[in-house]
Amino acid sequence: MPSVAVDPSGTFLTLDSATGPHRFHAIWLRDNAQDAQTRAPGNGQRLIALRDIPAETRIAAAEIAADGALHVRFDPEDKTVRFDPAWLAAHAYDRSVHTARGWLPDGVEPWDAGLMDAVPCGDFALLQQGGAPLRDWLGQIVRYGFAKVVNAPVEPGALFRIVDLFGYVRETNYGRHFEVRTEVNPTNLAFTGLGLQAHTDNPYRDPVPTIQVLYCLESSAAGGENMVVDGFAAALRLREENPEGFDLLADHCARFEYAGEAGVCLTSRRPMIELAPDGELVGIRFNNRSFAAVTDVPFDKMEAYYAAYRRLGEIIDDTAMEVTFRLEPGEAFVVDNTRVLHARKGYSGEGTRWLQGCYADKDGLRSAHDAMCREGVLEAAE
Ligand code: FE2
Repeated sequence: MPSVAVDPSGTFLTLDSATGPHRFHAIWLRDNAQDAQTRAPGNGQRLIALRDIPAETRIAAAEIAADGALHVRFDPEDKTVRFDPAWLAAHAYDRSVHTARGWLPDGVEPWDAGLMDAVPCGDFALLQQGGAPLRDWLGQIVRYGFAKVVNAPVEPGALFRIVDLFGYVRETNYGRHFEVRTEVNPTNLAFTGLGLQAHTDNPYRDPVPTIQVLYCLESSAAGGENMVVDGFAAALRLREENPEGFDLLADHCARFEYAGEAGVCLTSRRPMIELAPDGELVGIRFNNRSFAAVTDVPFDKMEAYYAAYRRLGEIIDDTAMEVTFRLEPGEAFVVDNTRVLHARKGYSGEGTRWLQGCYADKDGLRSAHDAMCREGVLEAAE
């Protein structure tokens, strides 16, 4: 049975439950009241703004009721609100904070070549049925930042059916989708037979396309394997080796640019290693082809910045970091473009290799995944 104690100041209470004691402020509790006057019962949206809650809000009294719920009476509104202690425990903020720069949240797992034995993969027919196979496949993209699809149809445009599994296409100046194959007059190096250094796509956009789908339609040319590298793992390895270098790439903006076709001048100013204000590692931008002149690093740090950039590139090029796989016709992969770098090995001019690519949005993918998880929890509880 939980217990509660109100601080004499009325500004916070301490709830002692199975997960230990947690303090909650009066203003936080009042703002997170779940009653029908505060939250719309249907969609859960908040019906009031903070301006509707008195700044001098205090806890007048709190008790655990017979049903185990926490009842809190707030002054000066003289309003009593019922809280579920389990909900409070799940949303407790009175805990130790992350101190390491580059921490990752639970459920995001860095990886290296060791993942080659267990490349995340889904069967297209199963994924189309939805349910647990789709939920788990989406969960692997959330966890690892990429996943393959196999046994999909060999027909142009089928890549959109991959996107249909979780969201919507993000259209760009490259079109609703783009073709990846040898072209006589390439406007972009991705369309030639050269191998490419692992990169994230379109770092010159803000925001970048957060999901990329690459779909194989023909693959008779030798070589041309696809390769992915976990940018988070690479950044964390740099941090281990050279914390100052990690900080330089995180604390200073790089610049990226693409102006390779008429009417297009895309530029961005963002760090190669992007951290949230509390140090969470949230994004990687790495692309040698569109790296522009960096002008936001102080003169006395520029050489060290370039050394860190060089070392990050060496880590990314290390085969111990890469997972390689060959895409056959009717196979595709989905990659989190804010995290996982992709590349293609060089291939010969003999035969053909034809992929179609498109972009989509990671927030939609996560939404589809999280909604399926939540529905699963509700069904299990029924
Ligand atoms: Fe690319």
